[in-house]
Amino acid sequence: MNKVTAIAHTNIALIKYWGKKDEALRLPYTDSLSLTLDDFYTETSVTVSDEDQFFLDGELKSNADSQRVFNFLNYFRLKYNVKNSFLIESNNHVPNSAGLASSSSAFAALSGALAKASNLDLSLKELSQLARVGSGSASRSIYGGFVQWHAGHDDESSFAEQFDDASNSDINILSVIVNKNKKNISSTEGMNRTRMTSPFYKIWPDVVEHDLIKIKPAIKNNDIRTIGEISEHNAMEMHALTMSANPPFTYFDPETIEIMNIISNMRNENISVYFTIDAGPNVKVICHKKDVTLIKEKLEQQLANARIIITKPGPGITYK
Ligand code: PMV
Repeated sequence: MNKVTAIAHTNIALIKYWGKKDEALRLPYTDSLSLTLDDFYTETSVTVSDEDQFFLDGELKSNADSQRVFNFLNYFRLKYNVKNSFLIESNNHVPNSAGLASSSSAFAALSGALAKASNLDLSLKELSQLARVGSGSASRSIYGGFVQWHAGHDDESSFAEQFDDASNSDINILSVIVNKNKKNISSTEGMNRTRMTSPFYKIWPDVVEHDLIKIKPAIKNNDIRTIGEISEHNAMEMHALTMSANPPFTYFDPETIEIMNIISNMRNENISVYFTIDAGPNVKVICHKKDVTLIKEKLEQQLANARIIITKPGPGITYK
């Protein structure tokens, strides 16, 4: 049987997705906007087979550990009336084995490879709709550059599309890895708890709408300072929601806060540098390409154990 291989890159949300209005279809409450990253990606091969099997980084996963992938295969078969079973071989590529596996690149690559292995000629929009059901953020990893996920109201209307290919952007991202352990509270659980218990969740849709309106012209103008300011504020608005949930929780580690302070001190030295943080303790630093080496040096001087990887805007899904 022919093997089909797809490659998709992770993305970092600049305007965050935080909360689902439909759990099964992963329909979000709000739009979100991300940047696809060059150095972190998943390569997934799919072969039509006698049974469903999932290998991750060369290791056959147990049924329990494959459940999310198998549920996704069942959804895919039902949606596209496919009868086959599949052998899935997925490998995460991250520099220096940073351990930053991501469901965004994983389900984007799996969607592309499954569609091709089943001889379905899906558009990028259809792939985005499909990937969304595996993991919300995966809907955005189908595309390169800056990507907007339209919340929509049903399966058909909820999909991502490229907002800007980032070819005129000199944005760079430093990925600062402080902790590669699995997070205690999954994004799904964190979103649900926040949505149901934070008294501030009701203003979140307005917050996102406001931040999106401001960041879009900044992206078009390659205005990295404004992109950074809005992204940092939006990240803190999201993390403030988790802290106001009941019981409250946070994804920050002590090192996360230390990095936030280092970034803020660099700004006092007139360096244009900002941060954003997803549902975990690691920090993504936003800056101009021309400043990236200096910023990396300064971070390394002040952080004993962190690993720092420089990256830039990355491409959309490709096949080998
Ligand atoms: O789609 P998930 O389950 O990876 O959730 C993503 C949640 C955030 O990373 C915090 C925000 C986002 O928009 O990617």
